[in-house]
Amino acid sequence: MRIAVIGTGYVGLVSGVCFSEIGNHVVCVDNDSSKVELLRNGEIPIYEPGLQELAQHNVAAGKLSFTTDIGEAVRNSEMIIIAVGTPSLPNGEANLSYIEQVAKEIGSVMDEYKIVVTKSTVPVGTNYKVKEWISELTDHPFDIVSIPEFLREGTAIKDTLFPDRVVIGVDNPKVIETLVNLHKSLTDHIVITDIRSSEMIKYASNAFLATKISFINEIANICEKVGADVTKVAEGMGYDKRIGPSFLQAGIGYGGSCFPKDTEALIQIAGNVDYEFKLLKSVVEVNKDQRFNVIHKLEDALGTLNGQRIGVWGLAFKPNTDDVRDAPAIDIISTLIKKGAYVQAYDPIAVDNFRNIFDAPEIEWSKSALEAAKDCDAICLLTEWSEFAVIELVELASVMKQSIMIDGRNVYGSEEIASSPFRYYSVGRPNLSTIVDDIRETSVLH
Ligand code: UDX
Repeated sequence: MRIAVIGTGYVGLVSGVCFSEIGNHVVCVDNDSSKVELLRNGEIPIYEPGLQELAQHNVAAGKLSFTTDIGEAVRNSEMIIIAVGTPSLPNGEANLSYIEQVAKEIGSVMDEYKIVVTKSTVPVGTNYKVKEWISELTDHPFDIVSIPEFLREGTAIKDTLFPDRVVIGVDNPKVIETLVNLHKSLTDHIVITDIRSSEMIKYASNAFLATKISFINEIANICEKVGADVTKVAEGMGYDKRIGPSFLQAGIGYGGSCFPKDTEALIQIAGNVDYEFKLLKSVVEVNKDQRFNVIHKLEDALGTLNGQRIGVWGLAFKPNTDDVRDAPAIDIISTLIKKGAYVQAYDPIAVDNFRNIFDAPEIEWSKSALEAAKDCDAICLLTEWSEFAVIELVELASVMKQSIMIDGRNVYGSEEIASSPFRYYSVGRPNLSTIVDDIRETSVLH
């Protein structure tokens, strides 16, 4: 197919590159000319493993191109995919102004029948607004389709080329065949539904995953008080196929560009129809609190934070991305500074992005994990980058002033900690250093 993808953010770029990879002719459109120039030169403005190579390969094969000219892109394509951002408004609702602008542009330039797909995460009913916005400006026929995106940062290409499912929401059954043909090489699980249900599937999926995370974080908090090990609890729960093992990793809570925004938006969507989504409100509240447990543990270990030097490992909201949007590290570092601490921060790739949104004279930006720990009273691990897991803990302790570690992601095991000098706080594993191996052996018999 000839496809135009509008918006070259995460979703747009990955979708465009992947649709070209499976044999379509794709033109990616953005109104930011410097971004388009960069993309034309084979560079990718986001950090996503494998994306640059795949983009370059498909550009060279003549299947992928970039433009600022939305008119030409729309007219030359059979299908137009809207993938622009829907940032949060101050009240949590999704801001649809970019979607509206793009829909109106499509309406004003289209010259024959088009299929218009919305991939951006949009509140239930938005696709019908898209239909109205386009109709206001054209008499040509078109169909609207909702195909939400479920990709994760860091594994975006795999998630797009080998998705668990593809959801297609339509209001005209005639387009189903075309859309199934476009996606059938990707998965056997194609869910065809109406447009509103498709829009809801995206929010419900993200809200459910966020719920799993807040649930296991609360279980972890209770484990700390009753002397249980949350990693074993999660393992024991996860073998139950009805529960599943994923998204039960206790930590400092979820961040990123999707879960915080989409949970707030779903609470608003429910509120707009006079339904109070009590469960999801609690999920959000638990998540907001969870990151501050790092501060509470530091205070438990050090007394006051005033004048203390704290190393911070990891600024990105999760590993393998340079994305710091809604990263727990933002609240944690700003609280440390408010409490009078000095911070030495390190992240393998997210420092520049972090400094763009938060910087302070009390922060020193380190070039390595060991440099960030040097002369520190405590080290806090906030993102589970793989390089932290292989740090030699005895060497680490030797560069620090005090051997105190707050591991916000449960990276280290009992043996490593037992053979190190660290006073070690993790999440939901209060007795870690005393757990004996034969108990661990028994617990894997399932
Ligand atoms: C998420 C969804 O997974 C994806 O389907 C959707 O399209 C966009 O939002 P992403 O934000 O890239 O993707 O990251 P994800 O890997 O889902 O992690 C989200 C957050 O949850 C991270 O902050 C991560 O640290 C946290 N998390 C995840 C946990 O704390 N524990 C877990 O067990 C899993």
